[in-house]
Amino acid sequence: MYKVAVFVCVTVITSINVNALNTKPFPKDFKFGVATASYQIEGGWNEDGKGENIWDHLVHTDPTAIVNNATGDVACDSYHKYKEDVAMLKDLGVNFYRFSLSWSRLLPNGFANKINKAGVRYYKNLIKELKDNGIEPMVTLYHWDLPQPLQDVGGFLSNNFVDWFGDYAEICFEIFGDDVSNWITFNEPVMTCQIGHGVGSFAPRVKSPGIGEYICGKNLVLAHARAWHIYDTKFRSRQKGSVGFVIDSGWYEPSTNSTADRHASEVMLQFVWGIYINPLINGDHSSIVKEQIARRSKQQGYKRSRLPAFTEEEQKCLKGTIDIIGLNHYTSSLTSAQKNPDPNGIGYYVDCEVVSRQSDDWEKSGSSWLRVVPWGIRKLLKWIKDTYDNPKIIITENGFSDFKENQLDDDKRIDYIKNYLSNIRDAMEIDGVNVLGYTVWSLMDNFEWLQGYSRME
Ligand SMILES: *[C@@H]1O[C@H](CO)[C@@H](O)[C@H](O)[C@H]1NC(C)=O
Ligand SMILES: *[C@@H]1O[C@H](CO)[C@@H](O)[C@H](O)[C@H]1NC(C)=O
Repeated sequence: MYKVAVFVCVTVITSINVNALNTKPFPKDFKFGVATASYQIEGGWNEDGKGENIWDHLVHTDPTAIVNNATGDVACDSYHKYKEDVAMLKDLGVNFYRFSLSWSRLLPNGFANKINKAGVRYYKNLIKELKDNGIEPMVTLYHWDLPQPLQDVGGFLSNNFVDWFGDYAEICFEIFGDDVSNWITFNEPVMTCQIGHGVGSFAPRVKSPGIGEYICGKNLVLAHARAWHIYDTKFRSRQKGSVGFVIDSGWYEPSTNSTADRHASEVMLQFVWGIYINPLINGDHSSIVKEQIARRSKQQGYKRSRLPAFTEEEQKCLKGTIDIIGLNHYTSSLTSAQKNPDPNGIGYYVDCEVVSRQSDDWEKSGSSWLRVVPWGIRKLLKWIKDTYDNPKIIITENGFSDFKENQLDDDKRIDYIKNYLSNIRDAMEIDGVNVLGYTVWSLMDNFEWLQGYSRME
């Protein structure tokens, strides 16, 4: 026991010396906020004319897919209790609140032919309540709850998806844009495409690894660009806001200093950023991703790459359409090159030819996937700065899942946030990264997708 205690003590002292907490205040215009998402908190799933979305559909048609057969039918009941939500935000003292609009609450069929007045009123009331309390809204247009009627005719895999999303975005800019200056089109494309259309565990549960998931990705970035152009040509001069895109990315640390493992780390980063962010900044997928998937597709006998290419016209339309990068970041992993990649495997997680794991030395959280690696966020921010010529970044999600449910004594969470903030501060001060704000996930406990009201294991 004694030895253990000494060991712990020494480790703590060493780590403080190596990476002292940066306690410098953030710049005056740096903003702090918290985030939620419509399906996870609103409830009122079929009230006042709201239509069905893909999560409503999943939880009602396949209840056992969710831990304890939970649903978002009521969730945090924010549809009725939004004033209590705003009171909590006020109490927290945040500058902004990041929430998402439920597409089906506004357009019950998904199409722009019919606008649900009660849905409009709900979000108008929420936005007014926020502004009356000095809190800025940051609005995500799509946080995973696609209207079911659009899914029924192909959803993200339809060639018409870009039109549907553009029409929806235009209505939102028109109705809410005078009061909202921070827009985000899509939240976490890896979850929508790789988990929703590749692995297929999340709604809409399309299991199409290596094919559907890449079509989804293509349509998703094109839809973002469509919305950005609509904002740019019709609303920006009057509303003076910005349109961002939220990417979900860990940091991928090479597991050794070998050339192969360092390359594996870059490949993993490119399989996230090169598929979703590179098109929005440079107009195309990054060359590493394009070449690797094209090579594998060719070996497998495909006539063309399973990663669908953008036409020249699409490239022009995509380039330069991201005003601000939203980063959702929770943890890191160690990457190595796969020893014998399977030449016949099809899917994002085999196409990358990388093996990832987490170090046993990294502190645990209540979720097996979330190890505490505060330095990872600093390395990732520096990589983004170097790769994309110092873009504007806002941390749109970061946070810690605790060990027990209903645990109010959350010292570990405090440590996590403190150490991640310190590394963000270092990235800004020492590495010159342009970070404008920080968002904690989440304002409150809520419906955690397949985990229901339990922790995400
Ligand atoms: C979930 O639903 C299934 C099928 O309807 C049922 O057999 C099971 O008992 C339910 N489980 C819980 C925890 O309610
Ligand atoms: C890689 O090299 C750097 C710089 O020499 C060193 O700090 C780091 O510990 C090395 N990493 C590994 C995993 O060996």
